[in-house]
Amino acid sequence: MSFKETIACIGAGYVGGPTMSVIAYKCPQYKVIVVDINEERIRRWNSDLLPVYEPGLDEIVKEVRGKNLFFSTDIEAAIKEANIIFVSVNTPTKEYGEGKGMAPDLRYLESSARQILKYANGDKIVVEKSTVPVRAAEEIKRVLSVSEKYHFEVLSNPEFLAEGSAINDLLFPDRVLIGSEETPQGIKAREKLVEIYANWVPREKIITSNIWSSELSKLASNAFLAQRISSINALSALCEKVGADIEEVSKNIGLDNRIGNKFLKASVGFGGSCFKKDILNLVYICKTYGLNEVADYWLKVVEINEYQKNRFVTNMIREMLSTLADKKIAVFGFAFKANTNDTRESAAITVVKKLLEEKAIVTIVDPKALENAKKDLEGVKGIVNYTEDPYEAVKDADAIAVLTEWDVFKQIDYEKIYSLMRKPSFVFDGRNILDHKLLYSIGFNVYPIGKPPLTHFKKI
Ligand code: UDX
Ligand code: UDX
Repeated sequence: MSFKETIACIGAGYVGGPTMSVIAYKCPQYKVIVVDINEERIRRWNSDLLPVYEPGLDEIVKEVRGKNLFFSTDIEAAIKEANIIFVSVNTPTKEYGEGKGMAPDLRYLESSARQILKYANGDKIVVEKSTVPVRAAEEIKRVLSVSEKYHFEVLSNPEFLAEGSAINDLLFPDRVLIGSEETPQGIKAREKLVEIYANWVPREKIITSNIWSSELSKLASNAFLAQRISSINALSALCEKVGADIEEVSKNIGLDNRIGNKFLKASVGFGGSCFKKDILNLVYICKTYGLNEVADYWLKVVEINEYQKNRFVTNMIREMLSTLADKKIAVFGFAFKANTNDTRESAAITVVKKLLEEKAIVTIVDPKALENAKKDLEGVKGIVNYTEDPYEAVKDADAIAVLTEWDVFKQIDYEKIYSLMRKPSFVFDGRNILDHKLLYSIGFNVYPIGKPPLTHFKKI
C-alpha cells in the first residue's frame, strides 16, 4: 500500500507511544514510524507486553501495528523517510550545573535536533511534542538553521493527555494546539499538521497560535491544574483541624460554574512526570527574567505538595503510638494515579521511603506498577515486599496506607482484611476512596484526608 506521507516520532515513551498509535489508527493514509534509542523499549512496543499500560492502548496497537504503525530503533531511516518529525523525548529537571533542580534538561531535545540535521535528506517539519521552556523552538531552529541545503520549520504541538486516560484524551481532546512562526512557510507547515488532526478532531477544537504562546500555554495548563490540587490539599489540612469535610467543601465550591468541579480531589499529593517538572521550569523562567514574586507564587504549589506528602507520614507516626519501628504497613498503590503503570514522582515514593526511614516493614500492592516500584526503591535501605494480592499484604499488618485510587482497592472484603491484621488496625486513606463509616464499623481506626478521623480510642 502506498501512503500519502510518512510521519516519524523520536521518543517512544508515555507520550510518544500512545500519541503516535492514535494518529496511525485515525489516519490510515499516513505511515507512522516511532523510533527510540532504547532497544528494550522498542522490543516491547513490538511485543504483546507494551512498555506503557493505558486502557485501550493494546487494542489500538494490535489493530495498526505492522500496517501503518512501526516501532524501530533505526532513527536515521525514520528521519530520511518522514517529512514530518515529532520530537517526544524526555525533558527532565536538570540535575547539574546552572539551573540544577529547576531548569529542564534540554540535551535530549538538542541531540534529537542534531540527528534530524545530520540525517535529513530534504526539507522537514519538526514538531515539538515534549514540554519545553518558552522559546525552546528557537533553540531547535538554531541547530537546524546550520543546514545550507534544507529548510526546517519548527512547530509547537504540546500534548495535553493525562496518563490513565491517554487514549480517550487523544481520541476526544478538549483542544489541539499548534503553534508556528507567523511566516508564510510557518503557516503552511501548521496547516499540514492541522490536516492530520482534522482526520478525527473537529476543526473548531484545533487551535493555532504563535509558537511562544503555544509553548507557554502548556506550562501554564499544567501549573493551573497542579495549583488546584495544592489549593484543595492546603484546605484539607485546615479541614482536619476544624472538623470540616474536604469532599463537601470541594463539592460546594465546584458547583460554582466559574470554578468547576474537576481537579478538586484532595489527595496524598500529586505525582507524575509533568507537574513538578513543568512548574519548576516555569519558576526558573520567571527568575531568569527577574520576576521573583511570580516565581515564588508558583513555587509554593510544589512546596504545598511536598508538605502534603510529609504531613501524611507524620500523621501516621503520631496516630500509631508515635513509632512505626517494626510495624507492618500495607501500601495500597504505588502508581502516581490509577490506570497506569507509571510511578514517576509518585507520592508513594516519598511516603514509602519515609516509612522505611522509620523502620517500618512495608508491603506494596499494585496491579500494574510493581515492576517500576522495584526500580524506584532499588538500593533503599529497609524491608520492602511486593505483591498483587492485598490479602497477602495485610497479614499481621498494623496499617493500610491507600496511595493510589485503583478500583480494586474499593472492591475487596474489608471484614476479611480486618481479620488478617494486627489490632489495633489503622487505615490511612490518602485518596478518600474507601467507605470510611463501614471500615470504622468493622473495627478499623480510619484516617481520611481532610476529614475528621474515625477512631475507637477513648480520650483520657
Ligand atoms: C516526555 C517528556 O518527559 C515530557 O515533558 C513531554 O511532555 C513528552 O515527552 P514521556 O513520553 O512521558 O514524556 O517521557 P518518557 O516516557 O521518558 O519517553 C521519552 C523517550 O524518549 C524514552 O523512551 C527515551 O528512550 C527516548 N529518547 C530519549 C530518545 O529516543 N532519544 C533521546 O535522545 C532521548
Ligand atoms: C497531567 C495533565 O493533566 C495533562 O494535561 C498533561 O499533559 C500531563 O500532566 P498526568 O500527570 O498524566 O497529566 O495526570 P493527572 O490526571 O493530571 O494527575 C496528576 C496527579 O494529580 C496525579 O498524581 C493525580 O492523582 C493527582 N490529582 C489529580 C489529585 O491529587 N487530585 C485531583 O483532583 C486530580
